Amino acid sequence: MQKITIKKILNKKNKSPIACLTAYSKNTAQVADKYCDIILVGDSLGMVLYGMKTTRDVKIETMILHAKAVKKSTKKSLVVFDMPYKTYPNKLAAYKNAKKVIKLTKCDAVKLEGGTKIVNIIKYLVKRKIPVMGHIGLLPQTSKKFKVKGKNSIQKNKILKDALAVSKSGAFAIVVECVVENLAKTITRKVLIPTIGIGASKYCDGQILVTEDMLGLNDVSPKFVKKYVNLNKIVEKSIKNYVKDVKMKRFPSTKYAYK
Ligand code: KIV
Repeated sequence: MQKITIKKILNKKNKSPIACLTAYSKNTAQVADKYCDIILVGDSLGMVLYGMKTTRDVKIETMILHAKAVKKSTKKSLVVFDMPYKTYPNKLAAYKNAKKVIKLTKCDAVKLEGGTKIVNIIKYLVKRKIPVMGHIGLLPQTSKKFKVKGKNSIQKNKILKDALAVSKSGAFAIVVECVVENLAKTITRKVLIPTIGIGASKYCDGQILVTEDMLGLNDVSPKFVKKYVNLNKIVEKSIKNYVKDVKMKRFPSTKYAYK
């Protein structure tokens, strides 16, 4: 199994679709690692695992614990650490935090949300050998509402400008979240680095989803999420059956007992 490098990700642009998923734990990471090019330890864990209302309450220490588990459980995929809200307010703080994160978790790169406003921060990190993945379009850390972006020309121009700025700043890929199809197509054509879409159409160079969403474990279902299975239903049925077995003294039977 050959390790996926930043160079290999860059080389996939216009050649081979890049498959990415999130992982927050050992079990998911082990499976995702067999098939995915990139695994993102996303700050979406705040909502998905901890029941928070937004990603803004996620602490860097929490992310580090999850990232350590994910990184330890992967052999092949590139593992990206999602820098939480307010951990990159300026280039010095961003560097201090990103350096700590990479040292403690051994992740391969960090992801930062933002366009032209954070270009200097991205450049500063990349110059100091910290690989950066960008994130434009809908920005969960700062957006008040979940809303598709790029429906009017002002938004379109702004997001395209963000994409070009992030691409030129030295980032190795950009997550493009929740933008209309024709904007994703233009961005992907114009930038030199791979675009990774989430709700951003087939025109991106790669795709990412929150694993719990595509497995049907999380009860949010925006239009862009394809549910490959409804694990919630399976989990519910199994828990119901277990509780029934316990109450009826059917579990544990002799098969599960030590002699
Ligand atoms: O936090 C996250 O999981 C993300 C992806 C949705 C791209 O940023």
